[in-house]
Amino acid sequence: MTIQFSTKTLAETDFKSPKALGAVAALQTDCLVIAYRGAVGGGVGENLMKLDRLTGGAIARATELGDLENKLGATLILRSEPVWLANGLRARRLLLVALGEDGDLTAFAKAARACAKALSGSGIKNATLVLQSFFPSSKTGLTASMLHERVRLISQLVGEQVYRFGARQPEMKTKPKEKADNLAELTFLVNTKQATLVKVAVREGDALVNGMNLAKDLGNLPPNVCNPSYLANSAKQLSKSTKLKVQVLEEKQIESLGMGAFLAVTKGSETPPKFIVIRHDGGKANDEPIVLVGKGITFDTGGISLKPGEAMDEMKYDMCGAASVMGTMYSVALLNLKRNVIGVIPTCENMPSGKASRPGDIVKSMSGQTIEILNTDAEGRLILCDALTYVERFKPKAVIDIATLTGACVIALGSVHSGLFSNNESLSNALITAGQASLDTVWRLPLDAAYQEQLKSNFADMANIGGRPAGSVTAACFLARFTEKYNWAHLDIAGTAWKGGAAKGSTGRPVPLLLNYLLALH
Ligand code: BES
Ligand code: MN
Ligand code: ZN
Repeated sequence: MTIQFSTKTLAETDFKSPKALGAVAALQTDCLVIAYRGAVGGGVGENLMKLDRLTGGAIARATELGDLENKLGATLILRSEPVWLANGLRARRLLLVALGEDGDLTAFAKAARACAKALSGSGIKNATLVLQSFFPSSKTGLTASMLHERVRLISQLVGEQVYRFGARQPEMKTKPKEKADNLAELTFLVNTKQATLVKVAVREGDALVNGMNLAKDLGNLPPNVCNPSYLANSAKQLSKSTKLKVQVLEEKQIESLGMGAFLAVTKGSETPPKFIVIRHDGGKANDEPIVLVGKGITFDTGGISLKPGEAMDEMKYDMCGAASVMGTMYSVALLNLKRNVIGVIPTCENMPSGKASRPGDIVKSMSGQTIEILNTDAEGRLILCDALTYVERFKPKAVIDIATLTGACVIALGSVHSGLFSNNESLSNALITAGQASLDTVWRLPLDAAYQEQLKSNFADMANIGGRPAGSVTAACFLARFTEKYNWAHLDIAGTAWKGGAAKGSTGRPVPLLLNYLLALH
């Protein structure tokens, strides 16, 4: 149940040419998608006027009735009438999408999102989108890279909207209320001039949606299903359907590596931990890899420092960093990216039990540094620090860790931006730019040495918590002590990886950001 994207090329798609109008009208589709600007006053815009004739004036009537607004993000669906067919218009529906005034990427996204909403959850199974109508002559001019970015974004937003957990995991509800059927196919109709570029962008959008869907599935699955073994098996599954190489280290090997911090977290759980390494060898053998490290706590009770009961179920999402690494690796493999990328996932549960770590325990990390565990609920940094030491062996060009690390980040940034911390300016800037292009944004927070003071311990090299002030910063400062040997960025996705409330569910973030970052590298 994944939406299929494709392109269809016509010599011309501008309705100014009667031939182009005729060819577009002749397309058989559940829904022809046309964006417009300037349906003003009592009349309709020039672009729509031509189409209006084929509908026997349906668009003009809708405009007169005030149903067709000239307001960014407004949409209207018209259903076929006999006169349409008589005039050679074979689409079963027309979806009109208002672009509003010439705007930036955010404005464009608003229109694209509205379009996606209108297309999903209705009876529409396949749709054909007249791409040129989404790019009417703009004052600022449309560069090739803007077109590329926006086509990818349309796919991303449509894919996002069409995702239904219930349809992908039908066994979870015995009487599914959700409509399982949804938009299954979106065709981008392009002219010969745009075709090459658009095909590349659509292929990227398709890979992105597949990666996001995987990340969402893993996030949404219940913690009694999606445990460390499940994550490891999903990774192995990926290595069967793609060229990804997967290695899973078991508890014994984790012990031999000396990952005392990671082991301290898994100790209280009956479910064995896994350390997953996923390799995409797309570049030259000696090209330095980009390494992605994802926090894979499949359930975070807090351990002996037990969390309060309210909304504790949401701690199944504490493996969303891991899920985003899996999703991104899948996208990278689908695109056969010409670059070496390695995904690393330390995964376990954080449970209270007679075998669990206690507040006050001191453990030795793989790096040799000792840690006083003052709060067993600050477990993410404990599993990550050992993974961050492990990845030194790859001589990475850059390491990015992704983690639902702190509640404090939710307080600081809400669900708009993910928190970004980095010891490298150009890596940091590249991530900021990639986030903006994919509407999966980050906001940089500090890592000053002054904050390190808060991690002082009387009994070990460091404590695992730094008190309430600047909780996200001290968590990042903790990780920074393990990443001095390479370029590193940390993404705190506690506020962005899932939504709570009625629309509870995984968002698939930051797969768009990560894939965009990798695609933009040169
Ligand atoms: N997984 C949580 C962070 C979290 C909390 C993410 C709420 C999303 C929503 C993490 O393991 C944790 O418990 N962090 C503690 C750290 C504290 C003990 C220093 C927190 O944020 O309260
Ligand atoms: Mn925790
Ligand atoms: Zn956690």
